[in-house]
Amino acid sequence: MDKIIRIAIDGPSGAGKSTIAKAVASKLGIDYIDTGAMYRAVGYKMDRDGVPFEECEALEKMLAETDIDFVSGDIILDGEIVNTLIRTPEVSMLASKCSALPSVRAKLVDIQRGMGSRKSVIMDGRDIGTNVLKDAEYKIYLTASAEERAQRRFKELQEKGEQQSYEAVLADIKARDHNDMTRELNPLRKADDAIELDSTGMSIEEVVDAVISNLQ
Ligand code: DC
Repeated sequence: MDKIIRIAIDGPSGAGKSTIAKAVASKLGIDYIDTGAMYRAVGYKMDRDGVPFEECEALEKMLAETDIDFVSGDIILDGEIVNTLIRTPEVSMLASKCSALPSVRAKLVDIQRGMGSRKSVIMDGRDIGTNVLKDAEYKIYLTASAEERAQRRFKELQEKGEQQSYEAVLADIKARDHNDMTRELNPLRKADDAIELDSTGMSIEEVVDAVISNLQ
């Protein structure tokens, strides 16, 4: 049996983690797990079902009845493909909010560790190198300036025909950075043994090559 390798990619919102992780996964022929999509799915479901954003019985009940999986690149929430439903600016904020809840993190980290224990994976998120896959063979901390990340997100939204000003996107990115870096439980931070890569001014291909060249 081939040796299992786990690659952790962490970093702030909009640093390009998922684009890079997807490309690296396809080059290496391993699975890609987007843990942010899992927090998005939970935030989306809490909002849709009117479950309050605090630790309570209703949340525990909802989490016990929640099933999240990835099948052929699609994210499946309770049997339904939710790829596009979880990509709105509203769900971005809901995901950031629900990711501070201990019971939400406990449930998702458990699923993520299961996914990372059976096969080679590249997993991206905020706490993969510091918590979920602490013993991952490779750890990358991918950053870019807030302005560049906002510019990339703004372009993406424009291409989708969504109306949001650059200023609003930048404010959103900064608010999420603040939430993600200051929450009590497993905040976003670079693992001591992670390699830091600043992608400001780099093309996707350049970042993918830089990641691959660090996997020796
Ligand atoms: O990567 P993303 O923007 O899709 O993630 C959505 C939110 O989920 C983000 O604001 C922080 C949270 N998150 C987290 O707390 N831990 C992870 N491993 C991944 C995402």
